[in-house]
Amino acid sequence: MGDPLLSLSLLLLLLSLLLSTTTTTTADDAATILKLASALSPTPKGWSTTTSSGYCEWDGVKCDNSNNVISINLATRSLSGILPSGLSTLSKLQSLSLQENKLSGALPSLANLASLREIYIGTNNFTSIPQDCFKGLTSLQTLIMNENINLEPWVISTDLSESSSLASFEASRAKIFGTIPDMFASFPSLQNLRLSYNNLTGGLPLSFANSGIQNLWLNNQEMGLSGNIEVLSSMEQLSQVWLQKNQFTGPVPDLSKSKNLFDLQLRDNQFTGILPVSLDSLPGLLNISLSNNKLQGPVPQFGKNVEVDNSGLNNFCLDTAGVACDPQVTTLLEIAGGFGYPVTLSDSWKGNDACSGWPFVFCDSSKKIVTTVSLGKQHFGGIISPAFANLTALTTLKLNDNNLSGPIPDSLAKLSQLSLLDVSNNNLTGKIPSFAPSVKLTSTPGNSFLGSESGGAPSPGSDSITTAPGSGPNGKGIGGRKVSPGLIAGIVAGLVIVGVIGLFVLFKVNIKKKREKSGRVNGQENGNGISSLVKNGSSGFTKGNGVLSEIQSQSSGNHSSHNAFEGGNNAISIEVLRQVTENFSENNILGKGATGRVTRKVDVYAFGVILMEIMTGRKALDDTVPDERAHLVTWFRRVLVNNDSLPKAIDQTMNPDEETLVSIFKVAELAGHCTAREPHQRPDMGHAVNVLGPLVEQWKPSNHEEESTSGIDLHMSLPHFLQRWQADEGTSTMFNDRSHSQTQSSIPGGFTDTYTSNDCR
Ligand SMILES: *[C@@H]1O[C@H](CO)[C@@H](O)[C@H](O)[C@H]1NC(C)=O
Ligand SMILES: *[C@@H]1O[C@H](CO)[C@@H](O)[C@H](O)[C@H]1NC(C)=O
Ligand SMILES: *[C@@H]1O[C@H](CO)[C@@H](O)[C@H](O)[C@H]1NC(C)=O
Ligand SMILES: *[C@@H]1O[C@H](CO)[C@@H](O)[C@H](O)[C@H]1NC(C)=O
Ligand SMILES: *[C@@H]1O[C@H](CO)[C@@H](O)[C@H](O)[C@H]1NC(C)=O
Ligand SMILES: *[C@@H]1O[C@H](CO)[C@@H](O)[C@H](O)[C@H]1NC(C)=O
Repeated sequence: MGDPLLSLSLLLLLLSLLLSTTTTTTADDAATILKLASALSPTPKGWSTTTSSGYCEWDGVKCDNSNNVISINLATRSLSGILPSGLSTLSKLQSLSLQENKLSGALPSLANLASLREIYIGTNNFTSIPQDCFKGLTSLQTLIMNENINLEPWVISTDLSESSSLASFEASRAKIFGTIPDMFASFPSLQNLRLSYNNLTGGLPLSFANSGIQNLWLNNQEMGLSGNIEVLSSMEQLSQVWLQKNQFTGPVPDLSKSKNLFDLQLRDNQFTGILPVSLDSLPGLLNISLSNNKLQGPVPQFGKNVEVDNSGLNNFCLDTAGVACDPQVTTLLEIAGGFGYPVTLSDSWKGNDACSGWPFVFCDSSKKIVTTVSLGKQHFGGIISPAFANLTALTTLKLNDNNLSGPIPDSLAKLSQLSLLDVSNNNLTGKIPSFAPSVKLTSTPGNSFLGSESGGAPSPGSDSITTAPGSGPNGKGIGGRKVSPGLIAGIVAGLVIVGVIGLFVLFKVNIKKKREKSGRVNGQENGNGISSLVKNGSSGFTKGNGVLSEIQSQSSGNHSSHNAFEGGNNAISIEVLRQVTENFSENNILGKGATGRVTRKVDVYAFGVILMEIMTGRKALDDTVPDERAHLVTWFRRVLVNNDSLPKAIDQTMNPDEETLVSIFKVAELAGHCTAREPHQRPDMGHAVNVLGPLVEQWKPSNHEEESTSGIDLHMSLPHFLQRWQADEGTSTMFNDRSHSQTQSSIPGGFTDTYTSNDCR
């Protein structure tokens, strides 16, 4: 601003630019409206096809003060024709209402109309939706496009997730196929989702749990949505739920949190199991349909105000509502519940007499009591129900060759007649109950973790990976999804950010230690950095506890062949990344939350705790210090209130200069934000990435030695790197070799065994 002449000319330039943009926009709007007028038949009343003059006064058109079109309303006018491309040049458009006409051809793209709040294009004859049609609609609240039955089949694009104010999305009978994208955490205001009468397949996205959906209409899909509907149990805002005519399986979850639910349509699916007791005490329930499923147990009894459709096929034990099943039947149903109520058991265990020839069940015919249950080789997952103990005359129990997890219930040791128990070839864990000597227990082969006290932790020296928690019977199908490239990018980005911060800490530590030693960072120091976060635990990194020892031993320098986390090398082996994330398992994604109980906000909280641990070099919970400092989060948040005390609170080995402190302040602020008391006050992981991204760039180690030797292009972006890596991996063998090589990776195509952490951001 030194030279006044220069400033003046700059100002003039800016002004002229501004003016020219404004006039250009208006001219474009006029031309676009004229094109629209010519395309429609009949020409709307009061419109002209020869001149655009006065277009702002045309019937159904509204402009702002600068003659920019802000609203077009041509609903219900029997219009036909093909809309001109270029509607998306109406840059100030807020509302577009074209519903109930006979418009045909491709719908023009509406991409990047950042002011557009409502789109009504339902009941028309459009033939296609361009792929980027709904991209960049950052103000969109309403998208209604029901009844477009001549559309070419299309899939819902995740572009829509940019519309974070979306309140209503309705596209029934609109030829949609494919899955419902898992993007609903982006729509905290979404109230209405109507996608009925399409050809949607796959499961309900887990992010439904984080949306505010009240009215959920997904009924009558051509092939049918599938999987369980457990996610509904966390959708507290639900009032109307239409799921009829799909292929849903598993039990009906506890919906008692949805106090406003009045209409629940479940008929014509494959639901199994006993209805939750809470269902008949939902205060507002008016209408429920259950027909044509495979529901089990007693017929539910609803209040007299409730309209119940329960006429069709089900597998209830009796016909009379509200009457309990026979005790043996009740027990066997509970046992089936342990396996997640498989359809096969619903179809084969019918009626109210377990001794009337039920498959897998054998009785003492005179006493009519169950003596043998033989359920080997049935592909059942889930757990062994403690209810087996209620079959008091049981002598033989075969559960071999399934996929059962969890412990052998202690109650089984109470079965006084038991002589044979075969649980071999499962994935059981935990302590083996003390059976009487008369019991012949077969638990191997399989069950490699059975018998260890700690409920599944591998014995020392084992490098196997334990199964992730939270995959109980009702969690089935939730954890079973493919991990998308985007998700993997998320995991790796999270890891890399933590890694880079850790390296930054080590870098600082290293400088300080230089005069004493020039080689390794010793184990003690590491205890303040990465390995402390790995050891201490409350984070999302600790689930694969089988591999932690691997990292620890590497970081303490015992394995000279793998130099992970050494101050000088700054490299994290991809194998190690893979192992600590259980092959980048979806369960370990930070900021994501699939077990249904733990929310993404809990992960964000955990991430905040990790940041604090790294900055302070302290454990999340440290009972060796005075009470007021023992709980890291509480103490650190108190420190944050007064910025002056922060330098004292951070790990003293860092000894930060001014510049470093600025970065630390930013990270500290983020950590505080992440650990906000109210989950809704915590940011999304995306926000964390935005805050940390520039710091990663700033503190990227400048040593490029690796670049020449590793074969990895350090300037490649993270998504690119992943894409290339996955493409290469597609041709290689799966990563299931647990005795993984210390030096060689399974990744072919020029990638070596180390994935240098400084190339990703
Ligand atoms: C809808 O479009 C199809 C195919 O373009 C055409 O055959 C049909 O006549 C149109 N229907 C109406 C009501 O315009
Ligand atoms: C439904 O979508 C599937 C692909 O997901 C396709 O194979 C099938 O043909 C579609 N059915 C109809 C009736 O369009
Ligand atoms: C209950 O649902 C059925 C089927 O959708 C409908 O016909 C009926 O009118 C509904 N009753 C009430 C009270 O909403
Ligand atoms: C099993 O027995 C216990 C105690 O006798 C009883 O409380 C429980 O309800 C029974 N469970 C089933 C499923 O029958
Ligand atoms: C076995 O169960 C686990 C969850 O406990 C699941 O991840 C896995 O896919 C199941 N395997 C088979 C073959 O069903
Ligand atoms: C145990 O679980 C693993 C992974 O879930 C699975 O691959 C394996 O087949 C299971 N073992 C048995 C015996 O079902």
